[in-house]
Amino acid sequence: MFYPLLRPILFGLTRRDPEAAHTLVMSLLVALSKQPALLWLVRQRWGQYSPGLERTVFGLRFPTPVGLAAGFDKDGVALPALAALGFGFLEIGTVTWHPQPGNPRPRIFRLPGAAALINRMGFNNHGALAMADQRQKTPPLPIPIGISLGKSRRVPLEEAVDDYCASLRALLPYGDFFTVNVSSPNTPGLRSLQGHDQLDRLLAALRQEMHTGPLSPPLLVKVSPDLSDQAMGEVLEVCATHRVSGIIATNTTLVGPGTACTCCEAGGLSGRPLAARARHVVHFIYTETSGQVPIIGVGGIFTPDDVWRMFDAGASLVQVYTGFIYEGPGMVRAINRALTCKLGETRG
Ligand SMILES: Cc1cc2nc3c(=O)[nH]c(=O)nc-3n(C[C@H](O)[C@H](O)[C@H](O)COP(=O)(O)O)c2cc1C
Repeated sequence: MFYPLLRPILFGLTRRDPEAAHTLVMSLLVALSKQPALLWLVRQRWGQYSPGLERTVFGLRFPTPVGLAAGFDKDGVALPALAALGFGFLEIGTVTWHPQPGNPRPRIFRLPGAAALINRMGFNNHGALAMADQRQKTPPLPIPIGISLGKSRRVPLEEAVDDYCASLRALLPYGDFFTVNVSSPNTPGLRSLQGHDQLDRLLAALRQEMHTGPLSPPLLVKVSPDLSDQAMGEVLEVCATHRVSGIIATNTTLVGPGTACTCCEAGGLSGRPLAARARHVVHFIYTETSGQVPIIGVGGIFTPDDVWRMFDAGASLVQVYTGFIYEGPGMVRAINRALTCKLGETRG
């Protein structure tokens, strides 16, 4: 009820720099995370889901298949509040080994007519050690927490493997699953790590890093929607070699000079215009892997029907980001409720 009233004010006040809205909302979520009584109220209003929504995927139990995508809570500072809003899992980060400020602002742009965002954040975060410290302070949560790992900008591509491994080493006790982000369009050269040999070296090293410790949580790879079918096939081959637990499809699609969409700002496009492409990629992966590799579908999800279409394409779980910005917390509740009814119908 309240978000449709609040949104025009929030969007209007932060028209010049939409990131200011994000900063404000994050401050509120951080403050809420420290108030058990308020958290309880929020959970009563938004965070209820029926037992019928529960799924077990790559060995983890998800109370609902709808999660929050990476990039919203880059440092993992507002997890209790986000969990209370009804998400079935949260992916935090992308975190890098070195703390870094990201690109100059403004670096998020709203396209309300298209229900889309363009961002070129550039992995702004406080670094893996700060996240480990934060996770240590966070009380246990009833949902899985994934950690998205990326490459520090100052580290050359040839040293990317050590950079990812350092982050994984520091964060291994704090993630229920880990995602290798090699698909953000906003760190120069990062997407070349999706190439066969580079990905092979990276996944081998991360697997090795996991096996040297007592913990071996699921390892996922997040892919770009801009890969050709052949390049995606190679990514899947390497993922199979290293027994990757799942694929997240997809990251944002590249816009700007030299790409098909030169609408305004350079960066990665998310939201409704990404939905069809993301579903195509999910379906391609599902078919190529004969449904044997769990897929988290993400891109342009706003409604329960969007979620259902992702499941039809082959996803086991879904994530949202841009839809959550436009629709607010009521969206997660609406999806959970609609899925409960739909699953009840299909089972009955
Ligand atoms: C402002 C913004 C920041 C993002 N940052 C990250 C990030 O740090 N790591 C990542 O893997 N994806 C990041 N993403 C991509 C989202 O996780 C998601 O894959 C993409 O936005 C498509 O989903 P959507 O259409 O629901 O937004 C970001 C997206 C946005 C809009």
